[in-house]
Amino acid sequence: MNMTPEMLHETIYRESAVLFALDEVERRLHRIAAAREGLCARLAGNLIRAGGKRLRPLLVILCGGPGSDREAVIDVAVAAELIHTASLIHDDILDGADIRRGVPTINAVWGNHAAVLAGDFLFATAFGLLAGEQTRGAMALMTEAVRAMCEGEMEETESLFQASLTEEEYLAHIEKKTASLLAACCSAGALAGGASPETAAALAAFGRNLGLAYQIVDDLLDFSSDEGTLGKPANSDLGRGILTLPVIYLLQEGSHRAAVEEIIAGRACGPEDFARIKKAAEETAALTYTYQKALHFAGQARDCLASIPYLPSREMLLALADRVVSRKN
Ligand code: FPP
Ligand code: MG
Repeated sequence: MNMTPEMLHETIYRESAVLFALDEVERRLHRIAAAREGLCARLAGNLIRAGGKRLRPLLVILCGGPGSDREAVIDVAVAAELIHTASLIHDDILDGADIRRGVPTINAVWGNHAAVLAGDFLFATAFGLLAGEQTRGAMALMTEAVRAMCEGEMEETESLFQASLTEEEYLAHIEKKTASLLAACCSAGALAGGASPETAAALAAFGRNLGLAYQIVDDLLDFSSDEGTLGKPANSDLGRGILTLPVIYLLQEGSHRAAVEEIIAGRACGPEDFARIKKAAEETAALTYTYQKALHFAGQARDCLASIPYLPSREMLLALADRVVSRKN
């Protein structure tokens, strides 16, 4: 379809409004990072300043829509990024990770004690932003998402080095640990922007499927990318006992099952073991299968938008679903 000048004008207006709102979120995040003295704020602030994709605020803003109560939508967007950042600080403690967003992690430099507190500090700041009347619905959605994230992390921990882990169990873990927050960003943004409960529910389903696609790609990148590109450790999930989809595929597929089981049982997957597993994944359909799964959930996400009658950011959300599965970091 050819674009009329009016349509072009409308598109430019919408995209500029999103960029403007994202800019406001960035300013607010940097203000929070600098607002207080003391080690908690300084350490948390360093990770905020290190950047990140800002996917969660973007989802809040796109689902918040134009003509929304902008202040409430921005509060939710900032809170979403703070919750995400807090969860990464805590996740890096659990993983013993030493690099995140291209900078040394708090736990690596200052120890776990300081990292727990810096994460809690951001966490409290986020919920402070959601305490207002206008963000009551968002508060309920975000607290439920955080409960799910904790459960997802716990279930993942309980299943470390378990070669019996099924694809269904893996999907249930990543749905809780990653997709629940993306779903909450979409529905909380929609509610803060004045959308109907039906629209908020459809957008939550979009976010949930997008989150599944996102995490599957994340796990694939751990398999196939490198630390320089990712800004965080690569080829590290298996060493920590986290079995992701390519490995689950190899365990099911048969021809490499015994070798993979032996490496997992050894609980010390070094570079040579990883290279063997990567070769096995490349020789089979493990990586293609995994990527097809990501595409499947991105497609499901796109389908969730079809039931929403009026959605000004539809094109941008569709583009986001494509970007999530084509990203390289
Ligand atoms: C990164 O996953 C981690 C998560 C998506 C969730 C972490 C959640 C918690 C620690 C519990 C909730 C805590 C708070 C404070 C909200 P990953 O390890 O697969 O990805 P990575 O490669 O980026 O580390
Ligand atoms: Mg991690």
